[in-house]
Amino acid sequence: MGILTMKKYIIANWKEHPATLVEAKKMIRELESALSAYKNVVPVVCVPSLYLTETRAALKKAECGVQDIFWRESGSYTGMIGAGMAKSAGAAYAIIGHSERREYAGETNDMTQKKIKSALAAGLFAVLCVGEKTREDDDYIGFVRDQVKEGLHGISARRAGKLIITYEPVWAISSQKPKELDSPETTKEMSIFIRRLLVDMYGQAVAVRIPILYGGSVTSKNTHTLLTDGGVDGVLVGRASLTAKEFAKIVDEAALL
Ligand code: PGA
Repeated sequence: MGILTMKKYIIANWKEHPATLVEAKKMIRELESALSAYKNVVPVVCVPSLYLTETRAALKKAECGVQDIFWRESGSYTGMIGAGMAKSAGAAYAIIGHSERREYAGETNDMTQKKIKSALAAGLFAVLCVGEKTREDDDYIGFVRDQVKEGLHGISARRAGKLIITYEPVWAISSQKPKELDSPETTKEMSIFIRRLLVDMYGQAVAVRIPILYGGSVTSKNTHTLLTDGGVDGVLVGRASLTAKEFAKIVDEAALL
């Protein structure tokens, strides 16, 4: 077992789309007919929580997930959704610490750590998102290091089996001109750096099994390069995941490897 034999994870992040449940059901129907099943690829669709039950019921060819959870299971926490609730509604995955949550909900590394812990305790796969805002920052490497180390602080090697890390440089998200996607070396460098951090924290045997994904303007056109030259074990897809055929094509690209 090694990095090369790992399954590829293709995770859709629908963000705050679509506007209605009727549209969501249509998207799910289209996705269900566009997706092919592959042994070496795990497609996951992270929908707005309100659409989760319907999605789980109608989508057979992909796993389902949420885009956030709160770290407490239940209680007087208005508006929050716990990991257990998400699981009981059909989620197997939870995206945690996405840069948009960090920006619009003031999420800190300490908060992401509590969420990771709670997601793993509930038996969900926890998808920790990390990534620098800009490369102009002299210490962008240190910024990502802190996000990984603080986000995983106190998470045991035993629990790390359901951990996925996504490197999502903020500058590359939903970018019309992802200036550095043409050079997958930047992705590779960072995935190697993150893998080294994981080796320090969990040891080689555990660390090589933790999938490291890339996110930021992924399409069916750059998936192959990212998975080969970029050295990642999958991709997290925002905008391109909103079109069933395009998302299915990304899954097909990953299956070719
Ligand atoms: P994008 O979003 O594919 O639209 O860049 C990715 C993400 O933010 O998860």
